[in-house]
Amino acid sequence: MDSDTWQVVSKKKAIKKKSSRIKENSVSEVEGSAQPHPSYPVKDCKAVIKQINETMENVRLSDFWDSCHGCLNKCQQIAHLTSEHNRDNDDLMINLHLEEANCRSLQHFDCVCYGLGNFTSCVISRHQMAFLLLILDLFKIPRKQCFIFDPLFSPLESSVLQELGLTLVLKNEEGKHVVCKPTMFYMLHCGKALYNNLLWRNWSWDALSQMIIIGNSFKGIEERLLSRILQRDYAYIHKSLQVVEETPFPESTQYSDIFNDTSIHSFTITKLKTLPKEIWQQQSEPHYLECDDLEIIRNFTR
Ligand SMILES: C[S@@+](CC[C@H](N)C(=O)[O-])C[C@H]1O[C@@H](n2cnc3c(N)ncnc32)[C@H](O)[C@@H]1O
Repeated sequence: MDSDTWQVVSKKKAIKKKSSRIKENSVSEVEGSAQPHPSYPVKDCKAVIKQINETMENVRLSDFWDSCHGCLNKCQQIAHLTSEHNRDNDDLMINLHLEEANCRSLQHFDCVCYGLGNFTSCVISRHQMAFLLLILDLFKIPRKQCFIFDPLFSPLESSVLQELGLTLVLKNEEGKHVVCKPTMFYMLHCGKALYNNLLWRNWSWDALSQMIIIGNSFKGIEERLLSRILQRDYAYIHKSLQVVEETPFPESTQYSDIFNDTSIHSFTITKLKTLPKEIWQQQSEPHYLECDDLEIIRNFTR
């Protein structure tokens, strides 16, 4: 993670920030970002963490979690492909035995989580949070390597996230995060503009091939949206459809409104290289001027 591109809060820094907040206006007001929240009453944090741990345990014991292992293996395979050694030889991977793939770890990946929502009050968000923590454990990605942002996090939620060891991001980048190393994005049920911005910011085969995006099915977006609107407003999602590999999450009656319409998206170098040169040259930043309902919260302080 490039710490220059994002402002993040460690626990110590956050405590310092709280005291400076008393003297001046909140950093968030200045930067249009989530508030830094250091020391919410410990007992409140503990109660939320207990609830999250219970939810994790329920998900871990569920049939859904078992049935996810097949598609989560896909992440292991992608991790293998992103290693330099195999970058030009991804066909090799197709037949790689899963156990062998599992040995190649995702632990060096960063994880970026956008749009989790209010997990202290919303059951859906809490389950998505529990699932996130379970996959970090499964892939052995250290929690501090997970960078999390939602403009709606409450002070208590920000405190809990820090207590859990995740790295809280302060700045609203509108999804325009620059990928400098292999990164797994976890962005369930987020606005289309967030995916589109992310793709735009990383519109090169080098960056795209290092990304795993767990989020709304791109195919589903294509099916639901008029082609004219998709091309006009979400051009990068549209262009990516030619090369994206999509592995859907299993259907679940138990968690139907929590993980519905969710897929793992990735891009292999081999496929990316089949795109015509012109597609890489058209890099205009999306502005959504004609979009009535953008579905994401903008950063107007930039
Ligand atoms: C439809 S809600 C989904 C919440 C939750 N994941 C769920 O499935 O119920 C979209 C979420 O995206 C968040 N969001 C909006 N703009 C964002 C931005 N610029 N960066 C990160 N998250 C954003 C919203 O605050 C909201 O929590």
